Amino acid sequence: MDLRYVDGGQTLYLRSAKFELAVTAEAQHPQFPAPLVIGASIASLVVVLLVLCMFTMVIRRRQSLPGLSLSGTGDALDRSTIREATRNFSEANVIGEGGYSVVYRGQLRDGTMVAVKRLKKYYLTDKGKEDFSREVGVMSTLRHVNLAKLLYYCREEDEWILVYELMENRSLNLYIFGEENGFRSSLNWAQRLEIIGGVAVGVEFLHSKGVIHRDLNPGNILVSDTWHPKITDFATMKLFIDEKTNPALVLMPGYLAPEYSGEWALTYKCDVYSFGVVLLEIVSGRKRTDTPTLLLQAWELWDQRRIRELLDPEVAEPEGDLLSRLVRCIQIGLLCVQRLPEDRPTVTEVVELLTNTSSQLLTPQRPTQLFSIDTPGLSRTIRSDQHLPRGSQ
Ligand SMILES: *[C@@H]1O[C@H](CO)[C@@H](O)[C@H](O)[C@H]1NC(C)=O
Ligand SMILES: *[C@@H]1O[C@H](CO)[C@@H](O)[C@H](O)[C@H]1NC(C)=O
Ligand SMILES: *[C@@H]1O[C@H](CO)[C@@H](O)[C@H](O)[C@H]1NC(C)=O
Repeated sequence: MDLRYVDGGQTLYLRSAKFELAVTAEAQHPQFPAPLVIGASIASLVVVLLVLCMFTMVIRRRQSLPGLSLSGTGDALDRSTIREATRNFSEANVIGEGGYSVVYRGQLRDGTMVAVKRLKKYYLTDKGKEDFSREVGVMSTLRHVNLAKLLYYCREEDEWILVYELMENRSLNLYIFGEENGFRSSLNWAQRLEIIGGVAVGVEFLHSKGVIHRDLNPGNILVSDTWHPKITDFATMKLFIDEKTNPALVLMPGYLAPEYSGEWALTYKCDVYSFGVVLLEIVSGRKRTDTPTLLLQAWELWDQRRIRELLDPEVAEPEGDLLSRLVRCIQIGLLCVQRLPEDRPTVTEVVELLTNTSSQLLTPQRPTQLFSIDTPGLSRTIRSDQHLPRGSQ
């Protein structure tokens, strides 16, 4: 129970009663060790009863969860309240769709705007419920200015719903790749650097709690009305060592570290890689899935000190010390996307490098890996379940 994935490994000590070891040794003797066997049997029986007791308690506690308010201030939310808030889950209110769920915009009676994440019906398998409970459990304990806040949840019959604070200003996707007028130019270089720093701090917080996000991409980073980035979509968070072929897992290609998409070697450094890709996209306005050579382009322009050619031309030219801050930021991004995980900094180091301009920066190597959307790990996962939804936010 409660085993956690620890980067770099950790020794697991298991304490066991001395007489259990003695029984094993005794068993080789011809004489039947009756007292020991009886003792061990009684001990096992006690353990089994204890486990049953604990199991019953866990089930009872789970059953008492529905509608519980997590904010500690609001009322419990029942299904009818959520129906009302989303106008019966109207199609017009859909603002996103992920592998597990559909997300609706809603408004509670007190006027609070919320994002309502409703688990898909066919996903109501034991596994789906387990993931949902995990998200609730984790999100209710993780509070940080750079993480989207879980306000309520609701579990009634076949309805499993999470209610998050709504970011009216949508995801970073819009501001860094947006075709529509003015979105890209509305986010200036100072704000972009602030957002990059905020995302790093959010990821650092997750890692400090033993959580790997593993699906960090601009679609999962929301922007608050004060331009704070808020990381979201925690259904894919890696809390436990999980089977490799989780059919519900749809990760965005382009952001996955090569060792993860290829060999499923998941560590905190995978998030660092995704962060590096996001960083380079934020400064260049180029999407890696549309520009497969993004990393190489970025490295070459950085290496030849032609940074201005990398920067998004939609955004007004950087003035004052902004250009040198951007050069430094891009170098940090290039360090994050190094092919070997050990060559990448930890996210704590990234935060330090971003904030302390006198800290030493290593020189990133030229990126060598080719990027292909059909990575082996990913295609293996996708084939493992025919119901697999392809959508992602
Ligand atoms: C929502 O659906 C219920 C029954 O399914 C219906 O009684 C109610 O009028 C609907 N409300 C709205 C706002 O459409
Ligand atoms: C958020 O969107 C509103 C409405 O479009 C706009 O007035 C406001 O300036 C935006 N704020 C940010 C931080 O994008
Ligand atoms: C910044 O980095 C330098 C060099 O590593 C170090 O000496 C200094 O203490 C750091 N400053 C802060 C505020 O951490």
